Amino acid sequence: MTWNQKHLLGLKDLSADEITTILDTAGSLVEISERAIKKVPTLRGKTVCNFFFEPSTRTRASFEIAEKRLSADTINFASASSSLVKGESLKDTARNIEALKVDMIVIRHSSSGVPHQLARYIDARIINAGDGINEHPTQALLDMFTLRAKKGTLRGLNVSFIGDILHSRVARSNIWGLTKLGARVTVCGPRTLIPAGIEELGVRVTNSLEAAVEDADSITLLRIQLERQSEQFFPSIREYSRTFQINREILRRAKKDVIIMHPGPVNRGVELADDVADSEHSVILDQVTNGIAVRMAVLYLLSGGKQYMSDDEHAEGGRG
Ligand code: CP
Repeated sequence: MTWNQKHLLGLKDLSADEITTILDTAGSLVEISERAIKKVPTLRGKTVCNFFFEPSTRTRASFEIAEKRLSADTINFASASSSLVKGESLKDTARNIEALKVDMIVIRHSSSGVPHQLARYIDARIINAGDGINEHPTQALLDMFTLRAKKGTLRGLNVSFIGDILHSRVARSNIWGLTKLGARVTVCGPRTLIPAGIEELGVRVTNSLEAAVEDADSITLLRIQLERQSEQFFPSIREYSRTFQINREILRRAKKDVIIMHPGPVNRGVELADDVADSEHSVILDQVTNGIAVRMAVLYLLSGGKQYMSDDEHAEGGRG
């Protein structure tokens, strides 16, 4: 087991061994969510603050469930309900949160680099739950965990990302993580939605959907992130769908055992046809389920990690 990090700010900062440590730790935590009583005392006495300055369904719920399964005390802030709306700076808000003796902060923010800034201001452990267009490390980790569970390994897999690569923190974190663990990554989308120079990260770039699909072991669809776009990157959503949507017809060109992934939220009928979203190829809901174990693993490792035991095992003095 290799783990030398105080924070989880991005997969760019982690070694291949550290990423593998998170995935392996998550693997051993899965069974806790299958118990009748889904709770261990690992983070008892620790306080985790969930700071979400952008909308979230999956990440926020998944972190809160992970924290509760590890017995942490949790507090939740959204930007609308914090004093940030009264003009308090992020730094002052963070220092006040720290004065409340919070041990870990999970933060999502629309500006790239905010979790890194927080890590400089305060002593609590920081977990990036998505910052602007920079990184979404726990999403990429749960994607890699799901892919590894389905395919047995990440090394040598062909993994394609299709859609709005330019505005995707999910794509960026996956590229860092997957290339470190030996997968071959392809990105595909309209030319205007592929960041210049992305090849330097070790990925193949194509504007041909057929090329991205044909040799892929997994295909991840990325939503067109209209909320991050200040200009028009393609003529219309209808035209985008005609060229880049994954549907049954294009899937005939893919490997029989290709898996379809999506970080959510899915815009059905745009990047992904209904019948594929709900098909035997889709692991979209497995991704959501796996997010709990992956986030438990991150919380556990950042807390300095004592053995994760049930209350009974604690009372008996350990697992032996
Ligand atoms: N994948 C993801 O980040 O989803 P949410 O925005 O719902 O958290």
